[in-house]
Amino acid sequence: MAPLDTREPELGFSTQQLHGGVGTDGDGFHARATPIYLSAGFVFDDFEQAADRFDGATGSGDGYSYTRTGNPTTASVERRLAVLERGRNALLVGSGQAAASVALLGLLQAGDHVLAASSLYEGSRGLLVENFGRLGIEAGFVDDANDAGAWQAAIRPNTRAVFVESIPNPKNDLVDIELVAGVAHRNGIPLVVDNTFATPYLQRPIEHGADIVIHSASKFLAGHGSVLGGVIVDAGTFDWADAARFPHLNEPSRSLGGLSFVERFGPDAYFVYAKDVVAARFGPTPSPLNAFLIQQGVETLSLRVERQSRNALAVARWLEQRPEVHSVDYSGLESSPYHALAERYLPRGQGSVFSFTLRGGVEAARAFFDAVQIFTRMTHLGDVRSLVIHPASTSHAARTEDERRAAGVWPGLLRLSIGIEDEADLLADLERALRVAAAAGAGAVDGAGAAAGGSGDGAGAGAAPGNGAALDTSAPAALDPIGHLA
Ligand SMILES: Cc1ncc(COP(=O)(O)O)c(C=O)c1O
Repeated sequence: MAPLDTREPELGFSTQQLHGGVGTDGDGFHARATPIYLSAGFVFDDFEQAADRFDGATGSGDGYSYTRTGNPTTASVERRLAVLERGRNALLVGSGQAAASVALLGLLQAGDHVLAASSLYEGSRGLLVENFGRLGIEAGFVDDANDAGAWQAAIRPNTRAVFVESIPNPKNDLVDIELVAGVAHRNGIPLVVDNTFATPYLQRPIEHGADIVIHSASKFLAGHGSVLGGVIVDAGTFDWADAARFPHLNEPSRSLGGLSFVERFGPDAYFVYAKDVVAARFGPTPSPLNAFLIQQGVETLSLRVERQSRNALAVARWLEQRPEVHSVDYSGLESSPYHALAERYLPRGQGSVFSFTLRGGVEAARAFFDAVQIFTRMTHLGDVRSLVIHPASTSHAARTEDERRAAGVWPGLLRLSIGIEDEADLLADLERALRVAAAAGAGAVDGAGAAAGGSGDGAGAGAAPGNGAALDTSAPAALDPIGHLA
């Protein structure tokens, strides 16, 4: 009987997360789980085979030689993730930061410009501004990621990549991928989407026009919080034959016997360049053991993300009713300015990570943070366990006060990553911590009645998209939710 075509679109996600891309690297023992090929290198049969594996211009491309350039355990995860994200090829690397670095260095060179949404994860922002800046690559940022005019106005003749996150951190200010892809493509530029928070279970950016999707696999894809990893998925649909924009893909290459990557690899030109030139040379190779652990995680992705999204919605709804809480930024809530985008892009669930702002400012946030018992105080997300972090003093500490205000990262804002625990236990933990926070922010909350007017329709809901956390000037100064006016 013919083997199952695991790319069949009619196969369900949960089937594909177990069976997608399986099957071309068997070692003859028929192990059911993917074996861990923890080996630096692979034996060549003979002289001819060794030479073939090194010949980029005419080599067969089959087989392995050295784990930095490819490994069967790693390749198994790559095939699986390419199927799940509906891409043509995937590359696993050592971390999410490595995925962003490799994906963008496959596109950019000195003198180029990369344009990103301001909502970008702080680590990615730092990479663009400080690290790429030193290499002569300029970065620009668009504040309202859903304003096509703002993207168009910011694009320059030397812009070579547009970069956004599908669900930005920590404000859940969802990005309309089709809108951004439209602007990028009209200008001949590929769109790179960090899909870490959504995962392919909730959203597949390639189906909305993205050209390259990246992940921190350390988060939901692994899910167990035991390893770091990153992945780059290439849609294989962008036309790389524009020699003025992408000279490195169109000029004759030393390693291809004078052919260009476009001539040799056609639609895979960018992917092969990113894999064989950028990743193989800079060297952020994942351990095959970590690749195995990521694959173990991927096989239960849908179950975890479904449960996490359900728990997150329940927690967000509960928090929204609490007098100690000024606002909740979760696109699953009807009060979110991003709810319509969530209905369009995230119909299966709106993810596990969101933030909320305490009325008592930083003192309330500090007391809340120190009081939780089930939530773990940790700078991580997408874990099976529920986690909490205070962005203004940690992940966003490097931003100026003005930048934090513009991003809505108030002193009283806390970010939650909801796990798979029982909902009742999570709510009990939050209730205990909120009571402690209310005591710490004494005077900030004048009982349920006084606070109710601001709950759920304050900073988040009342403002326009892209400015989701404008200061709630309707709140009396004594109830200042963000600790700035007092
Ligand atoms: C959206 C997003 N992208 C990328 C990264 C970087 O991933 P890693 O920590 O695996 O390098 C993170 C880490 O928090 C993230 O939240």
